[in-house]
Amino acid sequence: MAAEVALSQALSYARDLKSAYESARAREKELGQANERLRNGYQQSLQYAVDLKRTYGRLQRAIFQSLLGLANALEAKDPCTSGHSTRVAGLARQLALGMDLPRSTAEIIAQAALLHDLGKIGVPESLLRKAGPLTADEWEIMRRHPVTGAQIVAPLEFFDDGAIIVRHHHERLDGSGYPDGLTGDGIPLGARVVAVADVYDALTSGRSYRDGFTPEEALQLIQRESGRTLDAHVVALLPDAIEATSTPGADDGAADRSV
Ligand SMILES: [Fe+2]
Repeated sequence: MAAEVALSQALSYARDLKSAYESARAREKELGQANERLRNGYQQSLQYAVDLKRTYGRLQRAIFQSLLGLANALEAKDPCTSGHSTRVAGLARQLALGMDLPRSTAEIIAQAALLHDLGKIGVPESLLRKAGPLTADEWEIMRRHPVTGAQIVAPLEFFDDGAIIVRHHHERLDGSGYPDGLTGDGIPLGARVVAVADVYDALTSGRSYRDGFTPEEALQLIQRESGRTLDAHVVALLPDAIEATSTPGADDGAADRSV
């Protein structure tokens, strides 16, 4: 009798054990499936993050292209300024490469040159096209364009260095420039490069009130400014850069109105 009870108990334990084992297996399987779902979800969210980053990059580039279109449209309204930024960009890129700057830095400088006068969108057209000298009040308005331009490009996260160049392209070594009156090496290198290219293109461009200087005349005028208002190292590289781009230019504002 005792043996039958013991056998029955043993069978009962065995059934319980089997049931517990099966239940554990089932939970293990569920856990495995949950783990798999979690892994898939993680992979998917990683992919979303990559896609999102790519889309954001594309969006930023699209905004940059729109701003380029805006800058070109602004220039195209005046035959004197048409193509100015494109020429300044080509020359600035060449100067940067001549300084042995990395190609990526040269490209940022060239891109900033393409947009350097974008802030003129905030300057009345009557003032942009004025043939005679500007009054003090008009100068005040004109001199705002580097800051306006830098503010317009500020949301472009990949273009932080470019925004700095846009802001400072009218600074001069002796502190006579604007908007911040920076001096010497305090002026960002890219801005010093764009300044030389900008002045050269301005000088060689025809204006409504004067013909453009020849490249030789413009070089002479710029060499007089070397080390005083314009970076001497950049100026020294200018003849070769002009030769390499062979694109004598159009306007911006000329040395007498270098804006
Ligand atoms: Fe300018």
